[in-house]
Amino acid sequence: MNAANDPATPPELFTWEFATDPYPAYAWLREHAPVHRTRLPSGVEAWLVTRYADARQALADQRLSKNPAHHDEPAHARGKTGIPGERKAELMTHLLNIDPPDHTRLRRLVSKAFTPRRVAEFAPRVQELTDRLIDGFATKGEADLIHEFAFPLPIYAICDMLGVPAEDQDDFRDWAGQMIRHGGGPRGGVARAVKRMRAYLVELIHRKRSDPGDDLISGLIRASDHGEHLTENEAAAMAFILLFAGFETTVNLIGNGTYALLREPAERARLQASLAAGETGLLATGVEELLRYDGPVELATWRYATEPLTLGGQRIERGDPVLVVLAAADRDPARFAEPDVLDLGRRDNQHLGYGHGIHYCLGAPLARLEGQTALATLLTRLPDLRLAADPAELRWRGGLIMRGLRTLPVAFTPEKADGA
Ligand code: HEM
Repeated sequence: MNAANDPATPPELFTWEFATDPYPAYAWLREHAPVHRTRLPSGVEAWLVTRYADARQALADQRLSKNPAHHDEPAHARGKTGIPGERKAELMTHLLNIDPPDHTRLRRLVSKAFTPRRVAEFAPRVQELTDRLIDGFATKGEADLIHEFAFPLPIYAICDMLGVPAEDQDDFRDWAGQMIRHGGGPRGGVARAVKRMRAYLVELIHRKRSDPGDDLISGLIRASDHGEHLTENEAAAMAFILLFAGFETTVNLIGNGTYALLREPAERARLQASLAAGETGLLATGVEELLRYDGPVELATWRYATEPLTLGGQRIERGDPVLVVLAAADRDPARFAEPDVLDLGRRDNQHLGYGHGIHYCLGAPLARLEGQTALATLLTRLPDLRLAADPAELRWRGGLIMRGLRTLPVAFTPEKADGA
């Protein structure tokens, strides 16, 4: 049932087939219905925006609010960032649910603590974590790269950066595992995991207030702007959004990125040759290209029209939800030459994988650091890494916002036990 080429029939969205490869359906929408109203699996109706120019415009349009109170169906409107458990009111006041001036104030405060310099200083630690995780499976000759590598790396990295003591980080790994496993599916243990994590973060904030360090939570507490500080609730919500905006996204960057490289041997060989020559240029453009080609965030988080407006020739009513499909925009042939081709050296690559406008990803420097370190180390230490599963059998997690593999089985020549 491939409706992707039939101009009269919109493709079926949100099926398993679509989850495996949504790009043909997005190509159809871009061409025939670029701003398309659809019923989501939750039953809520929303507009999907699939062309690059419209997507960029929508992401920067202040008439599209992030505040769920603007939804025409407020009962459905809470919890639309794909972050499990965020329905809890205490965690709702985070950057992705608010507009200026509140957003401006909070973003300015967090930016004082979460600086590019802090991220750059963190590079040796990310390398150490990456090597330690690869040590865990390098001598086995096989691994599930999601479970053993892509999943733990970002959670340990962000815990370290926030200042969660090493002995508590496995709790975070468990809680995060609960949330990601249930993302988009049954919500069994999620509420409990969120509750525990929030309680832990509140307690940690208390501790850091009396005993500050040079970690990010202490930085958030210290940050002030014209004498203003984050309230306790805001600090907890901020720590929570940093964990969650920075966690599953990075898992997917490493997972989707490795998967794409394993399926494109020429591009992967090109990257390996460049790394072996001690260059970093192709690694940097390559990670950007992987974000464009099969990025972690398929749809930007929810936006709501605060007044009637026209987008891509389509009238949108006040209160209508608008979902910008980053994955579709980033394959738009009107913006990118040969958009379905992976070209690690691609120039002129202003992709929307990190969003655009005032909500542009705050964690992009950290994501780049983790993505580049993870991929370079993996391909250097395990040079003959190969896929150990039929691509058709791989399963993708079913959430609306994120795009990522459940498992990524690989095989490789084992490292000798002494690391040789
Ligand atoms: C926002 C992507 C990693 C923190 C966003 C947005 C995107 C995005 C698309 C905008 C969403 C929207 O406008 O609806 C990604 C990708 C990542 C990544 C692809 C990994 C490859 C991280 C990391 C952190 C982080 C590591 C922090 C530790 C944030 C925050 C926001 C955000 C706080 C909200 C910013 C605001 O509303 O002002 N990210 N992200 N992200 N991201 Fe990331």
